[in-house]
Amino acid sequence: MPSAIVLHRAGPPENLKFEPVAVGAPLPGEIRLRHTAVGVNFHDTYVRSGLYQTLALPGVPGIEGVGIITELGSNVKHLNVGDRVAYMYRGYGAYSEERVLPAEVAVPVPAGIDDEVVAAIFLKGLTTWVLVHEVYAVKPADWVLVHAAAGGVGSLLCQWASHLGARVIGTVGAEHKMELARRYGCSHVIQYRQEDFVTRVKEITGDEGVQVAYDAVGKDTFMGSLACLAPCGHLANFGQASGPVPPFEVSALFTKSNSLSRPSVFQHLRTAEKLHAAAAALFKGLNDGVLYPGHIATFGLADAAQAHRELESRSRQGSVVLKI
Ligand SMILES: NC(=O)c1ccc[n+]([C@@H]2O[C@H](COP(=O)([O-])OP(=O)(O)OC[C@H]3O[C@@H](n4cnc5c(N)ncnc54)[C@H](OP(=O)(O)O)[C@@H]3O)[C@@H](O)[C@H]2O)c1
Repeated sequence: MPSAIVLHRAGPPENLKFEPVAVGAPLPGEIRLRHTAVGVNFHDTYVRSGLYQTLALPGVPGIEGVGIITELGSNVKHLNVGDRVAYMYRGYGAYSEERVLPAEVAVPVPAGIDDEVVAAIFLKGLTTWVLVHEVYAVKPADWVLVHAAAGGVGSLLCQWASHLGARVIGTVGAEHKMELARRYGCSHVIQYRQEDFVTRVKEITGDEGVQVAYDAVGKDTFMGSLACLAPCGHLANFGQASGPVPPFEVSALFTKSNSLSRPSVFQHLRTAEKLHAAAAALFKGLNDGVLYPGHIATFGLADAAQAHRELESRSRQGSVVLKI
């Protein structure tokens, strides 16, 4: 019997238990997958802690993975047994050796990219594509602010936005991340635990402000990000690593005619057409060397609790992956 990480009760990382689980045959429209690598995301820590109560317990967490198809449901024609595929899926279940999954979410992975790299950047890279193309279309010479610029999504955002010709200002929480953020394409890096990032952004942009601020830090940075916006600038609040953003007055957007979004990658890529277009752009970016996956911290599936501790510690950089 294959094993998986099962969460019986929301709480600390040690609540993630490695146990045998039954995996059935795929129904029509489904595939059975043997995972080779699974991406660990902040979303998983919210589910584990109970901040998001979106996984029915007991349940297997995890929203993205890479693996080999071992069985096809009766009417699945566009995939084959033996195909290597990646997916992101809101139905959870990724922290497992084997699983059954809707075939429509599986995207074939081109040869030449390691499973570990795909698991590190698939959901984060698709999120980045959505942020720089759909939520706000980044243009050459735009000023772009990216918080947690040495993190998983942050490092990809800096690279993609600077590739599109933007001038990227990154914030990081520690000295050792500053050089990394520069390597990811930031023209300016602010250590936002030591410096007031709003003042620095105003100095850097000559009081103009930024056309877009990408903020997944949430509670600690939200109001500051708003203050950094240029007239008609956009704030994309796509996460809450420091905690949920408290309620705020919508009229605060009026003075500079700013706009605000709270995007979800799953909603933006809910059609197969969009998902495949974004994935193709992501794999091309990797192949062309536009995107570098950065440091990947790997753990065994049974060590998912340790992987969560790593992800939640602010000292780290890059992505966290479970190797299977
Ligand atoms: N909306 C979507 O569809 C979507 C999709 C994917 C990810 N996300 C969000 O994107 C964010 C980044 O995800 P990721 O997996 O790439 O993580 P990550 O950026 O690698 O890690 C989060 C970073 O946030 C910063 N941070 C600031 N305050 C923190 C605090 N109190 N505790 C922990 N970290 C803090 C830290 O960087 P510094 O030390 O440099 O500040 C930390 O490294 C998450 O909020 C996630 O939920 C959203």
